[in-house]
Amino acid sequence: MEDLLWVQGGRPLEGEVWLPAAKNSVLPLLAATLLCSGPVILHGVPVLSDVQQSILLLQALGCKVSRQNEDLAIVPPTQPPCGTLPAGPVRAMRSSVFYLAPVLHAAGRVSMPMPGGCDLGPRPIDIHLDGLVKMGVRVAWQQGVLCLECPPRGLQGADITLRLPSVGATETLLMAAVRAHGSTVLRGAACEPEIGDLADFLRGCGAHISGAGSPVVWIQGADRLSGTEHTPIPDRIVAATVAAAVAGTGGQVTLNRCRSEALGPVLEVLRNAGCEICPHEGGLCIARSGPLQGVGRVYTGIYPAFATDAAPVVAAGLLTARGASAFEDTILENRFSCADGFLAMGAQVRRSGRALEILGAGRLRGAEVKAQDLRGGAALVVAALAAEGESRIGGLCHIRRGYADIAALFCALGGSLGIAHG
Ligand code: EPU
Repeated sequence: MEDLLWVQGGRPLEGEVWLPAAKNSVLPLLAATLLCSGPVILHGVPVLSDVQQSILLLQALGCKVSRQNEDLAIVPPTQPPCGTLPAGPVRAMRSSVFYLAPVLHAAGRVSMPMPGGCDLGPRPIDIHLDGLVKMGVRVAWQQGVLCLECPPRGLQGADITLRLPSVGATETLLMAAVRAHGSTVLRGAACEPEIGDLADFLRGCGAHISGAGSPVVWIQGADRLSGTEHTPIPDRIVAATVAAAVAGTGGQVTLNRCRSEALGPVLEVLRNAGCEICPHEGGLCIARSGPLQGVGRVYTGIYPAFATDAAPVVAAGLLTARGASAFEDTILENRFSCADGFLAMGAQVRRSGRALEILGAGRLRGAEVKAQDLRGGAALVVAALAAEGESRIGGLCHIRRGYADIAALFCALGGSLGIAHG
């Protein structure tokens, strides 16, 4: 029997939380440690299942990884690693794609099956591969296994235009370029804050990068990168999850370490819904005491637009609003797997193509539901906190990929929830 999360809903949330380091920073940072010739310390790394899978990959590649309380210390291998990645961790997460460039540098070749991860619709890796090909890499598929080989003189800098601003491909090509021969220009790059964080880390190791966080990034390759210590940026999607839960339940919560500039459109939607939001030095405070209003149609988009990962959780927070809302995801096809769970809780919602329509004035009651993916699972927790009565949520393995302990997160704010071990 699997673990279930029970949630006794209907209590306003009150108190403060410290945001953990961003999953989507930590995962590429862990892969990037392979580019370094010295030890790396990453501060405040949450215990997520995707982090555990990354540690398995690093260990399989010969790194020594140790946890010292909240920090992870990674010592790179002294010998070139074998370029074959173990299928288990690769298939467990999309972020195994981040190992392509670092392993190419370390081993001259890499082979792995197609990365796995949440089922959010088609998630090809052609932009990663096209960029690597421009840097001289040979790509072949052999019986479903991706095999890449470095040119004899190593990766070569190149002028690369991304077909679309893929977050992951920008990170792959940044990691490829910092140790390539010569200079690289990435055009049409993604601008998410996690890319700026990766660039800050790499600069801390001695890499030459300018323009990261804008659509054009210049990189001058270096023969060698040192180790460093780095504190990853806080998790803006965990921030959005807590903020959305306060919208749903009412109450008042302070989000310490929250960078409100990275959450602009999410905060605007929550304000329009009737929340009071006060950014302050070191975080922000969100409160709702009055009625919740529908917000009309919201489109997700590439940064700095409304983040696709925030759409299911914010939608969950607005299920009981008076007046309609709709969330349309322009990035991923299958964002709203949580719709069935919302319906089971009595919400008036409809999935229509890439959109989730919330018809308004719904009352939520506790129900037995199952997470189908990470953010959809977190959205079910947000809905359950706002519902009357008890919910039981399965599929926790999805939620644990991005929230170290979602029960503890909301218990600290007065929520009544916990794990029933299977
Ligand atoms: N795409 C391609 N080809 C590629 C790469 C992407 O067609 O080679 C398409 C994808 O199919 C998708 C769109 O481009 O439709 C965006 O993909 P992107 O590469 O930007 O996303 P990602 O790097 O795979 C990261 C986050 C996701 C987040 C997306 C969008 C990490 C580890 N993951 O994924 O986070 O949804 O950017 O912002 O950074 C999550 O945290 O739950 C999560 C799924």
